[in-house]
Amino acid sequence: MERTFLAIKPDGVQRGLVGEIIRRYETKGFTLVGLKFVKVSRELAEKHYDVHRERPFFAGLVEFITSGPVVAMVWEGEGVVAAARKLIGATNPLTAEPGTIRGDFGINIGRNIIHGSDAIETAQREISLWFTEEELVGWQPHLAPWLHE
Ligand code: RTP
Ligand code: MG
Repeated sequence: MERTFLAIKPDGVQRGLVGEIIRRYETKGFTLVGLKFVKVSRELAEKHYDVHRERPFFAGLVEFITSGPVVAMVWEGEGVVAAARKLIGATNPLTAEPGTIRGDFGINIGRNIIHGSDAIETAQREISLWFTEEELVGWQPHLAPWLHE
């Protein structure tokens, strides 16, 4: 089953959006398989955003993501990688569609509330970076027959 990695960034935590964000993925019908509250180390932040290492915003991004606690999550479901990104919305919250998390709650690209893996391979890499195998819990939601034909 497909899995993705999501992280509520320090701004999302500070603004009290943790419950609201988790609710959106729960009510959509995806399954939570991993969840933890972490103060991100510089090492983890740099590994996580390694593809952006050469970009001008890299240092600020690492500084920001390590500045306060983050809610790290793994969600499971058919098509969850792309669908989770759709619920998140465009990178810049000012242009993100209303109804998306960034569109509803943000105004600045450097404070865009949540991270989501951008592809299946990226998700696999990020899940193993943030979680051990023992921290992930596979389970059968009793709601399944009401969500799937
Ligand atoms: P994310 O990785 O956090 O889910 O965001 P994303 O895929 O929508 O955007 P990405 O291109 O991967 O950029 C990663 C994060 O870097 C910050 N950023 N700042 N100042 C800038 O021009 C700029 N561009 C990107 C954002 O916080 C973005 O989420
Ligand atoms: Mg990205």
